[in-house]
Amino acid sequence: MSDRKPSIPNSREGCPVHDWATDYDVMDPIYNSDPGPIWQDLRERCPIAHSERWGGSWMPTRYEDVREMARAVPTLSSRAPGVIPPSPEMREILIQEVKEFGAELPPISADPPLHKPFKQLILPLFSPKAVDTYRPFTEQLANSLIDQIIQKGPEVDGATDYAQQLPPRVIAHIIGIDEARADEFTEWVRGILEQGQADAEIRLKYRRIIRDFFQEMIIERRNTPRDDAISRLMEAEIEGEKLSDYTIIGVCFLLLVAGIDTTWSSIGSALFHFGTNPEHRKRIYAEPNLFTTAIEELLRFYSPVKMARRVLEPIKFGGIEMQPGDKVIMNFPAANRDPQIFDRAEEVVLDRKQNRHIAFGVGIHRCAGSNLARMEMDIALRVWFNRIKDFEVIQPKNVIWSGGQVRGPRVMPMKILGA
Ligand code: HEM
Repeated sequence: MSDRKPSIPNSREGCPVHDWATDYDVMDPIYNSDPGPIWQDLRERCPIAHSERWGGSWMPTRYEDVREMARAVPTLSSRAPGVIPPSPEMREILIQEVKEFGAELPPISADPPLHKPFKQLILPLFSPKAVDTYRPFTEQLANSLIDQIIQKGPEVDGATDYAQQLPPRVIAHIIGIDEARADEFTEWVRGILEQGQADAEIRLKYRRIIRDFFQEMIIERRNTPRDDAISRLMEAEIEGEKLSDYTIIGVCFLLLVAGIDTTWSSIGSALFHFGTNPEHRKRIYAEPNLFTTAIEELLRFYSPVKMARRVLEPIKFGGIEMQPGDKVIMNFPAANRDPQIFDRAEEVVLDRKQNRHIAFGVGIHRCAGSNLARMEMDIALRVWFNRIKDFEVIQPKNVIWSGGQVRGPRVMPMKILGA
């Protein structure tokens, strides 16, 4: 392994990592608060870095490398898409279950040919037409959250009082589960994607809670079918066969996990950006027609999601030979800052015209929920800007960012300067 690793020293003050090219840490708080300079340095000196941390992985930082890797299906397999590897106990469970059922969280953890029918099964839930029907609910929700923020102000938390509140209720509404339990759903998803990343017991605990919950939902619907996504999955067939409960639970589990932390992070990052950039704030208040390009640009700049792939056969990228069993981090966020593709890549350009960002991934696993995510961001930001006259992040340096699989502000004190 060691002869395949590049060796470029690069230390940052206050950070235990001394060589980002050979020892990066995707959970490091300094990296997660501002990863741009680290990617920039790696892109110039060691575009596909390696680290032994978190089970060992390769991490590309150039757009073309990430795109090529995303298309190398199934040599780069999605069977284990977690950036932080599962514990040995969990790994054993997963190996057994995958042998029996094919994939834990299809389509995100499925390779071809299993991937396609699952993707086709869920895409209608997130078509532009379907997403339009969720708009009134989302708009009403955003307005009621702003009512509470105005009442609570002037000091609020933009991450927990607003950004965090929308996505769990919207996805619960779509799946057909009780929106009033949104705080619990968020706790479960954070248990998997945040606290549980580095703590195997927590991850296993929340995995059990989520699977048991959806099993209960299936039993309820067996007695009384409803007009919701769970009931539709129970009626669906792939190649003439109904889905097993394990698979229905896996799809619902994925929708819950994929629908919450991701969009919460992008709404939170957008508020962070405007709350720390008075010029951009002023401009968007004056020119609300910029929201469409601004949202794409914020998705590019603050891309929240990284995924992982497992190498199944020897394969070469950028002169580096990867071996079966190696893990590769699909660094969509770094690809989106590549100056070879984006002019002024390290700047947020609110009216950027050409924006081929891959925040939603690329290739067969491209995000199924991108229409929904865009609609939620659009409504969250428009309602916020309509109802709040001005605002700022109180101490940007004290904002706490999550990292690993999904990066976004988790604690973000803000001051409402007029409503
Ligand atoms: C801004 C918010 C979001 C971002 C940045 C995002 C990003 C991504 C990315 C990068 C992938 C590719 C995974 C890979 O290559 O392995 C993905 C897949 C996926 N996303 Fe999203 N996502 C967001 C919101 C959502 C929402 C709201 C849903 C709805 C439930 C959703 C559902 C999915 C699903 C089902 C997949 C798997 C698609 C497949 O494997 O074919 N996402 N997302």
